[in-house]
Amino acid sequence: MRIGVLTSGGDCPGLNAVIRSVVHRAVVDHGDEVIGFHDGWKGLLEADYRKLDLDAVAGILARGGTILGSSRVQPAHLRDGVERARGHVADLGLDAIIPIGGEGTLKAANLLSQAGLPIVGVPKTIDNDIASTDVTFGFDTAVGVATEALDRLKTTAESHQRVMVVEVMGRHTGWIALHSGMAAGAHAIVVPERPFDIDELTAIVGERFSAGKRFAIVVVAEGAKPKPGSMAFEERGKDIYGHERFAGIGNLLAVELENRLGKEARPVILGHVQRGGTPTAYDRVLATRFGWHAVEAAHRGEFGMLTALRGTEIEMVPLAEATSTLKTVPAERYEEAQTVL
Ligand code: F6P
Repeated sequence: MRIGVLTSGGDCPGLNAVIRSVVHRAVVDHGDEVIGFHDGWKGLLEADYRKLDLDAVAGILARGGTILGSSRVQPAHLRDGVERARGHVADLGLDAIIPIGGEGTLKAANLLSQAGLPIVGVPKTIDNDIASTDVTFGFDTAVGVATEALDRLKTTAESHQRVMVVEVMGRHTGWIALHSGMAAGAHAIVVPERPFDIDELTAIVGERFSAGKRFAIVVVAEGAKPKPGSMAFEERGKDIYGHERFAGIGNLLAVELENRLGKEARPVILGHVQRGGTPTAYDRVLATRFGWHAVEAAHRGEFGMLTALRGTEIEMVPLAEATSTLKTVPAERYEEAQTVL
């Protein structure tokens, strides 16, 4: 078999572990040939690739980022490129393509699959918002980074009697905010799934200070918004990839809380540090299992599917199903967090 692999969309720790696993399983166990497209779908559309043998993937298991490079692609650009992609797949003699990516990448994968290309997807995102899999690799690493930051911020916040408003990633969903906030014992967690009431949030933080506590930590996901009309907030529209431009909710909240409480507040935007660096052991294992199962699915001819963690097992799920909804934080998970804050 000849397999093409690519990484697309925002990078995330564990991508290299998938690439390595695909190459090991395909080359060592099946005698396949593997090529890696550069910079995501762009590499497939431009037939820009290199051969991936065992040497090419040596030493990358623990390395963050992606050795193949990544990029985002505009949906219209990809739709226009379907025939070009089909031509390159035929010219290169590819029997399977394994795209590793998040929501946008998997939608593109579904489009190409419906056009008849032999696709087996692998889901990734630090946001953990892909509905069909219990967990995506990268999430555990991001939560670890955010939790360590929160732990560190507590000590400086206490020294200065400040409110720290820590903005974490999470475009549509608050999984990183929820898990890091619970793990670090934050005092308020603000997620996109539940527009917040600034009066309530001010009261929660204010009560802490009234009770004699010297600091407060608020974790907010970047995609969180106030209830309409409750606080000045301006939508910024979408970028060329169809992604919402954020208004900087961490900064806005810090200013608002400082003004309302008369306590110093500092915004801390964790940003891309959550996506960088070495993956945790959990993410390495999940990524490695996904790579292994993607190759097996390709050999069984199970195309138009993606790997998914269900409980402790890896299952194959139709791409169309996986891209139809996002996995949001359910109300009961949010409630659990409230009782321990
Ligand atoms: O989708 C993953 C993600 O890390 C989001 O949490 C974040 O909003 C986005 O990517 C950032 O994208 P970029 O790297 O293009 O700034």
